[in-house]
Formats: sequence, C-alpha cells, structure tokens
Amino acid sequence: MLAKIYPLVPLVFEDCQSAAHLHQKVFFKGWKENDFREFLENPLIFSLKVEKDHELIGYIMWREVKDEAELLTLVVSTPYQNKGIGSVLLGRCITILKEKHILNVFLEVAEDNHVAKSFYIKHDFILLSKRPHYYPRPGKKKISALNFFKKLV
Ligand SMILES: CC(C)(COP(=O)(O)OP(=O)(O)OC[C@H]1O[C@@H](n2cnc3c(N)ncnc32)[C@H](O)[C@@H]1OP(=O)(O)O)[C@@H](O)C(=O)NCCC(=O)NCCS
Repeated sequence: MLAKIYPLVPLVFEDCQSAAHLHQKVFFKGWKENDFREFLENPLIFSLKVEKDHELIGYIMWREVKDEAELLTLVVSTPYQNKGIGSVLLGRCITILKEKHILNVFLEVAEDNHVAKSFYIKHDFILLSKRPHYYPRPGKKKISALNFFKKLV
C-alpha cells in the first residue's frame, strides 16, 4: 500500500545534498554530501528512496559483497517516522537481496538508538555481537555498536 503511494527508486547524485541533510538531522555526526557522492559512485552500493511531493523523506542504502549484504543506513524524516515507511524500505531491500541470492544481511546500530533496535528486532534481526566505544557522542563519550544479522534463506 505505502509502496504504491511512494514508489521506490534508487538515490541519484541530485539527492546527495538532501540525503546528507536528513542524515545529519537524525544522527550525531551524520554523513556529508560528499560521502553520499562516494557511496553512489561505488558499484557495490545500492539504495532506494522515498519522496513525497518531490521532497526526499527516506532512504535505505546497502553494500553487497558476494553472498552477504550490509545495511549502511536507513533514514526516515522525523515527521514521517512510525508510519510504516522504514518497514517498506527495508522490506523492498530484503526482497531485492533475496532475488540476488544474498544469504545474510548485517547491520550496526548504536546501543542508545532504542527506536532502531526495536525496529530491527521487529523485523527479525538477531543480535550477534557488540563493538564497544564505537559511535561518537557529544563530549568524549563513545557508545557501543550492536551488530545484528538476519538470515535470508
Ligand atoms: C528506525 C527508522 C528507520 C524506522 O522507520 P519508521 O518508518 O519510523 O518505522 P516503521 O513505522 O516502518 O516501523 C515501526 C516500528 O519501528 C519502531 N519505531 C518506530 N518509531 C518508533 C518510536 N517513535 N518509538 C518506538 N519505536 C518506534 C517500532 O519497532 C515500530 O514497531 P511498532 O509500531 O510495532 O511498535 C526511523 O525511526 C528512523 O529513521 N530513525 C532515525 C535513523 C535511524 O536510527 N536509523 C536506523 C539506524 S541505521
């Protein structure tokens, strides 16, 4: 239903500025426009975006290496969160990965990102390991990264 309202297509270079803007709004030390340019130039990296009235409101980006994939980021603009858009993006990404015979998908979430943890657990990701003192936070503090994975077969 939502996928019909918001057709999903890959990010293009013209989206890099808005993608960076969104990323910096939701993450401490979010990625810059040039980071997105480099991702889009990388043949191993894929993405899908959601737009509403020509405004970028969400996207997912992942890297594929052989039969494994890593979710690099998933962002939904704050006013549009908790309306099913993140689930639509993740669901379509997983469908694509299965079609490509990818076996496992991995991702990292900051330990203090309770919404994302609940989102991925709801989507059957399993906690694999913890990388201590990984994500920077204001001051000199660092938060652990939690590694999740999901088997696709
Ligand atoms: C994580 C994120 C992508 C989820 O996308 P979304 O469109 O909001 O999520 P959906 O509406 O599809 O899914 C809803 C589920 O997500 C979680 N969730 C979403 N918003 C939540 C909130 N405000 N509080 C608690 N849980 C929330 C819950 O598990 C919820 O399931 P429920 O409705 O059964 O409780 C989105 O919140 C986001 O962009 N957050 C900031 C960036 C981020 O943390 N990205 C993930 C790390 S890479």
